[in-house]
Amino acid sequence: MAVTLRLLCYSDLTDSQQDKTMVKHMLSKLSQIMSHPSIAVDLGTANTRIYVSQHGEFIERPSSISLTSGKINNISDEYLEYINNRLTTKPLRCGVIVNLQDATMLLKPLIKKSRRFLMAPITLASAPTDTTKNERDLLRKALVNAGASHVSIIPEVLVAAIGAGIDITHPNAQLLIDIGDGVTDMAVFRNGCMIYSSSVRIACSDLQKSIRSAVISKYKMQIYDYEAERLTQKVLSILNSQEHSYESFGVTGFDIIKRCKANILVKEKDIISAIEPVLNKIIKMIEISLKRLPEKIYCEILESGICLTGGGACIEGMDMLIAIRTNMEVRIASDPIHAVINGAIQTLNYWDGKKKWWENIFWPKSDRVGYASHNRPIDNIKNIEMVDFTVLHRSYGLCSNP
Ligand SMILES: Nc1ncnc2c1ncn2[C@@H]1O[C@H](COP(=O)(O)OP(=O)(O)OP(=O)(O)O)[C@@H](O)[C@H]1O
Ligand SMILES: [Mg+2]
Repeated sequence: MAVTLRLLCYSDLTDSQQDKTMVKHMLSKLSQIMSHPSIAVDLGTANTRIYVSQHGEFIERPSSISLTSGKINNISDEYLEYINNRLTTKPLRCGVIVNLQDATMLLKPLIKKSRRFLMAPITLASAPTDTTKNERDLLRKALVNAGASHVSIIPEVLVAAIGAGIDITHPNAQLLIDIGDGVTDMAVFRNGCMIYSSSVRIACSDLQKSIRSAVISKYKMQIYDYEAERLTQKVLSILNSQEHSYESFGVTGFDIIKRCKANILVKEKDIISAIEPVLNKIIKMIEISLKRLPEKIYCEILESGICLTGGGACIEGMDMLIAIRTNMEVRIASDPIHAVINGAIQTLNYWDGKKKWWENIFWPKSDRVGYASHNRPIDNIKNIEMVDFTVLHRSYGLCSNP
């Protein structure tokens, strides 16, 4: 009898404990359901990537809007493909929004997916380090118009470094270069702070544009983006080897005179002379930035090497070209294309549950981060070291020695 009683008591206790756990579980589920969803956004010149933290959904699509819909009669499929290729609009140029309405249109259906019970998602977005306040305000506006709330903007190259797995809290300086579609961004991290940054609004799209323009003017042929991408890779390998083979490349495109698909041979030297000035501008920015660094920081980077992210890192030979021109070791991040969004996701997860973190993110007062941008000469880099950035990154909770 006593044993049964004790057993009953035990089962009662277990039941109540189970109930409590269940209630706790239900409450936490309820609060999760009732809380705002949060999203990380990488609105790039070529690609838009959005991560919805609540259900771990990842969306990726080109940052372009089609201006045509449906089939146009009396037009060949080839010509339609050519027209469709032309009739798209891109709301971003050089990493910044140039058309607010189109940017909103691009973001709206993506953000809609992350809304819960009509609750707008709290948003962490990234922008190139050289963006002005107005440009970041435009990004904020596009996101809010598209249905986001509490929008905070973080330097793209900082999240790229986190996403690339760089230990930015390391006492030795580390350099990251993100070569995207419209902007090349670089920054040096040390002791949890971004101590230097520089960028140039030239990147992969300019390499492809230069090739397309050269082919159209010389061969009267419109080539597709993937062909321009392929030619970029071929030429980079040749430039690195220093052994010009003077060969020609077979290219498929659209003959603008005959209005049909065609295959032609494009001379290597035409592509090289088109691409070289663009590559030189990117490399020059890196070389000038390295020269500006104090010797100590430069030596530390010499030891740690350069990490490459962005679509440009995927172009075969880009790493070698930078290595040859800088005399530094260059490595490509494990998932270079997604480094920015992966870093933003990690940052979002880190802040998850922390109260009003979005109110603590701010950019330094200067429009040009670090006053060290390529178009703002600096006299004494020591003056800018650890000033704004220490404060900035402390607020991110990423400093090892606050
Ligand atoms: N293997 C590859 N995969 C994807 N993109 C590549 C690859 N090789 C080269 N690219 C080029 O990289 C660019 C896209 O890179 P990325 O997605 O980093 O740009 P983005 O983030 O949209 O632009 P930005 O950061 O400059 O605003 C395109 O121009 C594309 O042609
Ligand atoms: Mg990018």
